[in-house]
Amino acid sequence: MTKIKAALLGYGTVGQGIHEVLHEHQERFRTLLGKEVEIVAILVQNPSKYRDLPENIVVTKDFEKIITIPELDVVFEAIVGEEPALSYLTHALEKSIHVITANKMMFAKHANSLLEKARENHVKIGFEATTAGGTPVIRTIEQLLQVNQVEKIEAILNGTSNYILTAMSERSIDFETALAEAKEKGYAEADPANDIDGTDAFNKLMILSQLIFNEQPVWNKVEKTGIQDITSTAIQTAQENNEKYKHIAVIGKEGDQLKAEVSPLLLSSSHPLYNIDGVDNAIAITSNIVGTITLIGPGAGKLPTASAMVEDLVDIFQNGTNRHSTYPYKDQAAV
Ligand code: HSE
Repeated sequence: MTKIKAALLGYGTVGQGIHEVLHEHQERFRTLLGKEVEIVAILVQNPSKYRDLPENIVVTKDFEKIITIPELDVVFEAIVGEEPALSYLTHALEKSIHVITANKMMFAKHANSLLEKARENHVKIGFEATTAGGTPVIRTIEQLLQVNQVEKIEAILNGTSNYILTAMSERSIDFETALAEAKEKGYAEADPANDIDGTDAFNKLMILSQLIFNEQPVWNKVEKTGIQDITSTAIQTAQENNEKYKHIAVIGKEGDQLKAEVSPLLLSSSHPLYNIDGVDNAIAITSNIVGTITLIGPGAGKLPTASAMVEDLVDIFQNGTNRHSTYPYKDQAAV
């Protein structure tokens, strides 16, 4: 049986999750694709840390050693930050290697050039894992709301901040303890600053904006506030009043103008996002024909993120034509 040859870029929580899921679900890949998926190489910062990995896997910190592997089919990218991820993925696409990324910070800014590069080289980019973890919002919008025009998104897009707010409210623990738990569970970024200050939710909202509206608002005109200033006292008072703080990302059109905001809001119990707790994310998608659909699911974590990425893999290898080829990305000019 032929195999799909895959490389992992990054072997933190997400990279390890992909490895685990690929290893445990080969039977499913055989059924769905008629092929097994083999990890042939892993890019890490410190190869000596990973001596336990099977010898047939190239474990290296040298991207050149990976990109020159003959007949490499796909790279899974789970690196943090813009560079070197962008350069690696650009290089992979230029070599006609499919790309599956979880890198929201990089993709929010560079989706257009990467998708263009993918089109030129007749390969695909899967980016379901960039937004809302394991909750399949990207392909729901892209594949299942094609006749509908999405008018508005109201969402909880960061698992870590929702976990912290929930833990502070339900268990009366302090911010630092809740954040430590979110790190321990693999929800928070290695540097959780972006989780806490709203940047991560903002990046995900920009990816949704581009997907839905074919444009993004001018970044520095979007109000962006994190959860760092919400005190335990404020959360307890809210709870006594049957209210909850939730970190909400909103985008929609007012006339011709895109309006977006990312901020903590005090929700009453009648609000549809009031009950979204813990690491869950939720995306209320309002469209002109169907009305409002709300997707709820795990927004972070090893297996949910890996789930999104392996589903991208199956989508890419099942569908011969590049669905993204008509994808109307434009450059993110004004940042
Ligand atoms: N740190 C991110 C979050 C991971 O908590 O939502 C998923 O993008």
